[in-house]
Amino acid sequence: MNMKTSYLGLQLEHPLMAGASPLGNDMDMVRRLEDAGSAAITMPSLFEEQITREQFGTLYDLEAGSESFAEATSYFANVADLRLGPDLYLDQIRKVKAAVKVPVIASLNGVTASGWLDFARQIQEAGADALELNLYYLASNPLETADTVEKRLLDIVRTVKSNVTLPLAVKLSPFFTSLVHFVKVLEGAGADAVVLFNRFYQPDLDIEALEVEPSLNLSTPSTLRLRLRWLAMLHSQIAIPMAVSGGVHSGADALKATMAGATGIQMVSALLKHGPEQLKAVRLDMVRWMEEHEYESLDQMRGSLSLTKCPNPQAFERSNYMRVLAGWRA
Ligand SMILES: Cc1cc2nc3c(=O)[nH]c(=O)nc-3n(C[C@H](O)[C@H](O)[C@H](O)COP(=O)(O)O)c2cc1C
Repeated sequence: MNMKTSYLGLQLEHPLMAGASPLGNDMDMVRRLEDAGSAAITMPSLFEEQITREQFGTLYDLEAGSESFAEATSYFANVADLRLGPDLYLDQIRKVKAAVKVPVIASLNGVTASGWLDFARQIQEAGADALELNLYYLASNPLETADTVEKRLLDIVRTVKSNVTLPLAVKLSPFFTSLVHFVKVLEGAGADAVVLFNRFYQPDLDIEALEVEPSLNLSTPSTLRLRLRWLAMLHSQIAIPMAVSGGVHSGADALKATMAGATGIQMVSALLKHGPEQLKAVRLDMVRWMEEHEYESLDQMRGSLSLTKCPNPQAFERSNYMRVLAGWRA
């Protein structure tokens, strides 16, 4: 079966790869990922706050506001210490590069177009094959318009592109008012791929302790639905490849993402639950299904269930919405 895929300028044997997670910090895991056939290894993100702290000796962004919200200090306490600092991050890229043959995708996470972005060059020099930029921004300022937020994110992309020659993927959240337009503009700003989506961290509230519970739940296959919609919507409206991130647990999930238009398929929760070997199981599932249905390649399948030929995606969405509501039986 021809599963060959070109993603971010990388020629991959197939599209399945480990997404950004702590798995990339553990050399045993990294080797297991390669043995399980991960087409590339995505490193966990290095955060802007970690870099600025090293540059300016402060965690100013994380600490801002903590004085007016007393309990906040404990959330901010040395969070950057929980992760590899910038130098160790570069060391880890070099180690992973030396240990595996597959491409290594480094990851930066930040929200301001400032000096910390110079670090992208050091990531390139450390040997990463590509860079994923996770734009994880929670718009919470009533005076800040959507346009201002988008312009700032675009500035980040342009700055990184001017610093490095590495292929650049931009990992987005689904919370944009006009996502198709924004992705189109990102493409114009030089993004070489988009990753759909970041899973926004959603803390719970502990009503007895009156505290915010900073817990992280792994995804389920239902997480994929939101991605399928936007992959299908964006396919053929943009020229750059898209990777899916969120809710791929089985071969069927990966096939759906491909039919909606995904070129790269990233997995994290399923690997944390079942181990890196799940990557191989998913690939074998995909191949089995494709053989049974007489496909010859993934290229042949990609985008077959996108909204490419739909003259009016909005009307299509609204009519399906009305149909499922009307068809509900308890
Ligand atoms: C424990 C954990 C750590 C993660 N760390 C990162 C990270 O450092 N950078 C990033 O962009 N995404 C990170 N993610 C998000 C994943 O890359 C991915 O986008 C998300 O988990 C959805 O994919 P999934 O459904 O396959 O888990 C992390 C996810 C988990 C569960």
